[in-house]
Amino acid sequence: MSLVRDGVVERARLDELIAEEERVFVTRQPRSAAVADRARASLAGGTTSSWQITRPQPVWIDRGEGSHVWDVDGNEYVDLHGGYGAMAVGHAHPRVVEAVSARVRRGTHFAQPVEDAVVVAEELSRRWGLPLWRFGNSGTEATMDAVHLMRAITGRRYIVKVEGTYHGHHDSLQVSVYQLLPELGPAERPVSAAASSGIPTEIVRLTLVTPFNDPEVLERVYAEHGPEIAGMIVEPIMMNAGIIRPADGFLERVRDVTARHGALLAFDEVKTGFTVGPGGATRLYGVTPDIVCLAKSLGGGLSTAAIGGTAQVMAHVANGDYEQVGTFNGNPLAMAAARAAVTEILTPEAYAHFDRLRGAMVEGCERAIAEHGLPAHVVAIGAKGCIVFSPTPVRNYRDFLEIDDRFSHLHWLMQHNRGVFLPPWGKAEQWLLSVQHTEEDCERFVGNFGAFAAAVSSSADAQ
Ligand SMILES: Cc1ncc(COP(=O)(O)O)c(C=O)c1O
Repeated sequence: MSLVRDGVVERARLDELIAEEERVFVTRQPRSAAVADRARASLAGGTTSSWQITRPQPVWIDRGEGSHVWDVDGNEYVDLHGGYGAMAVGHAHPRVVEAVSARVRRGTHFAQPVEDAVVVAEELSRRWGLPLWRFGNSGTEATMDAVHLMRAITGRRYIVKVEGTYHGHHDSLQVSVYQLLPELGPAERPVSAAASSGIPTEIVRLTLVTPFNDPEVLERVYAEHGPEIAGMIVEPIMMNAGIIRPADGFLERVRDVTARHGALLAFDEVKTGFTVGPGGATRLYGVTPDIVCLAKSLGGGLSTAAIGGTAQVMAHVANGDYEQVGTFNGNPLAMAAARAAVTEILTPEAYAHFDRLRGAMVEGCERAIAEHGLPAHVVAIGAKGCIVFSPTPVRNYRDFLEIDDRFSHLHWLMQHNRGVFLPPWGKAEQWLLSVQHTEEDCERFVGNFGAFAAAVSSSADAQ
């Protein structure tokens, strides 16, 4: 009997496999363990972001080059983590190194605009079809500006967001993110729940929640609150719950209902921008929002973000009605890297390269899934992809919650111990290819996935 056949999971055996791989993981990384110990005395929780804390221990990275990274113990990995989706250009890309080195020598910060910002903004306009842009420093800032702007323009108070979507850690959108089922309320009438401590209930109540791919609840939310809704923010492809594609017509419905009620629509393309296609999900699905938020792969590995909008929306920024500000906005170093990324590296050839490699990864994984009868499937778009450990498609966050996360954790550990660095946080995350990945890199990933599939299905046979 297979560990997973007919959907039956031999829980104890799965836990044993995880424990074994965690032992190997720790054995391979004694120096990481020592740095982690030292770090606990000066870094809260021992890392620089709570999402860098991984089980069994954080991985401390020494360097990255091309499609590979090395940890402080000298272990080499094919990097499919991609810095949580920011490294579509790969590590130390020669064009980024050149552009950033040249900029460093000419000064890195003035809090005055530099010409590179114009070139980047022009390219974003071309790709997204929105004329006017501003820069920030993180995805969180971009979606926070979007929320402020939607409220400033309409003078209304409610924001609508999708249940289970992460948009950054500011108050208005830290609502109903990674909640457990009992906190979510009934599916047809989801409740707004604080996703973090420190957010007053009064603010949580101003964010209304609707499930992804559910036009009925969407329409009801607008029917009940329409005149007070400032706008809606949505990830056009949901990417913090594996990868969930929009159902046919869903984005069009979102666009339509928002416009009908005089509200604005913002697409959060922090993850999808530059990775699912040259003009993100906006161009892929042909639905244009009023506002687009970008970050991650925009910066070619440096931290930057952008918010773009229609002429009507951005007039409120241009005329000072909404003050979009920041000391490091349009920072010269980040703009130099972003210019190289968007004008020289993420070219049409880059997207053809992603298509080729993705095809090989999907095919290899699907073959192993079929061979071993795993209740899993692959979802992949552009440079992004993931294995979903469910036999049936996932339509929304509630479907996603039903997936047993231990499969993803075991898969992550087995890939890691065999030289492939996937993003931690199991079932929520996706792989990211870069322009510097090769067929051999993908073969290593597929080979490891085959080993995982064999381990999961043969281990129970041996019992
Ligand atoms: C869809 C989405 N929006 C916004 C953010 C926030 O971006 P940042 O971490 O740069 O603040 C993230 C981060 O993972 C994200 O995935």
